[in-house]
Amino acid sequence: MKKSTGNKKIKTAIFISGKGSNLKNLIKFSNQINSPISIKLIVSNKKNAKGLIYANQNNIIKKIINFSNPRIAEKKILSLLIKKKIEFICLAGFMEILSVYFIKKFKGKIINMHPSLLPKYKGLNTHERVIKNNDKISGCTVHYVTPKLDSGKIIMQKTVKISKIDTPKSLEKKILKKEHIIYPAAIRKILN
Ligand code: GRF
Repeated sequence: MKKSTGNKKIKTAIFISGKGSNLKNLIKFSNQINSPISIKLIVSNKKNAKGLIYANQNNIIKKIINFSNPRIAEKKILSLLIKKKIEFICLAGFMEILSVYFIKKFKGKIINMHPSLLPKYKGLNTHERVIKNNDKISGCTVHYVTPKLDSGKIIMQKTVKISKIDTPKSLEKKILKKEHIIYPAAIRKILN
């Protein structure tokens, strides 16, 4: 990945599907003078994604793309990314699986936040599975996106302790706080 140089920020797109707390946090991060990224586009596969409010509040272009036909959806996104000269993509709670074709087009330029300590608990419902297994620690991982789900090179991780009274919901809350710390830190690590 090309590093950011001087005050030239890397044109970034954020992909979301839901509440967008990571998006909100990344917008705050991108607004710092010395941040390596500038968020130029927000893509959502859900028209009702709560996180879209942050696009409106911050005057960032948003695009809602229907994924009922993933091939067409990806084609639309790719042409938009090219039009907006996007160089870097952060997935933040984006619930679609991107195709090999798409990922290859942005090889080494897509990263994701996953709510577990990868390689443990790839896929969905991580917190439920962690609690069911009586694990003592969990956490979150920022990793590169490759065609194999949740398996790309790890950029950064942070752990949390699980207490006996934790539920999937309380664990999610604890881990989200750590996500908001490591997503910007991971971006700095690879782009600064
Ligand atoms: C986070 O738990 C993230 O790890 C996962 O999806 C969730 C997104 O949360 N990929 P938010 O929409 O950023 O609040």
